[in-house]
Amino acid sequence: MAEVLMRVEDLSLHAGGRELQHGLNFEVRAGEVLAICGASGCGKSTLLRHMIGLQTPQKGRVIWTAGGEERDVHGDDPPRREIGVAFQAGALWSSMTVGENLTLPLELYTELDETQRERQARFKLALAGLPDAATFDAEPSSLSGGMRKRAAIARALMLDPPLLCLDEPSAGLDPLTSARLDDLIKRLKCDLGTGIVLVTHELDSLFAVADRVLFLDVETRTATALGPPAELRDHGPAGVREFLTRGAANTELEAA
Ligand SMILES: Nc1ncnc2c1ncn2[C@@H]1O[C@H](COP(=O)(O)OP(=O)(O)OP(=O)(O)O)[C@@H](O)[C@H]1O
Ligand SMILES: [Mg+2]
Repeated sequence: MAEVLMRVEDLSLHAGGRELQHGLNFEVRAGEVLAICGASGCGKSTLLRHMIGLQTPQKGRVIWTAGGEERDVHGDDPPRREIGVAFQAGALWSSMTVGENLTLPLELYTELDETQRERQARFKLALAGLPDAATFDAEPSSLSGGMRKRAAIARALMLDPPLLCLDEPSAGLDPLTSARLDDLIKRLKCDLGTGIVLVTHELDSLFAVADRVLFLDVETRTATALGPPAELRDHGPAGVREFLTRGAANTELEAA
């Protein structure tokens, strides 16, 4: 069994004084893609913010367990370097070039000199599908939405984190770029053993890359399923089966 990187225990999510989810219990393992699914507004992005320590839970805990130690994500020694994040909006700092956005984590957390930092950043841009040398010096505002998303993923990869959280990375990308992103995710998990938490609505991508799916139900406000996507599609609770097949039916319609 692969190493457990993170354990979420009895977590509740709140926003604006309202409970979004409660009683969430699951683990994220090294070398797996754990997809988080559910209707818009059920709390997926909020869950990610809790998992990376940006938002403090009113109830429950998130524990970083890699390397056999236990560190509370909301405690005194949070795993900042260990978790890479690309947010839903693909936010880069607009006052810096793409290259400066990428090299900043290395400046903060490593001893690498400028040449090494730049080499790393160009490598990560290429890995994320942005091989054009000019991208490094570009202003984020001059990139297309899809390029910004990929640059944000490249930034999330800068410190080679054991855990990567991606919030709807393929939303708004063309099908080819989206398929390349799926390939990148598979490579990261297989070659580097990265654990990947992937929030996605894209069923093609879900079935292509996810090892397990955590389904957050908007009505009962808790997780109603956790398991391999094909298993949940065929044998999961009714609401989950519907979610996982309706999209497939739509895809067939689109393809016709
Ligand atoms: N800071 C906040 N203050 C008040 N309400 C918030 C806040 N953050 C999120 N919400 C609300 O919490 C709910 C869940 O938001 P969240 O962004 O986590 O949903 P989501 O599952 O990621 O949705 P989507 O699929 O549309 O991205 C939404 O109704 C949102 O309006
Ligand atoms: Mg969201």
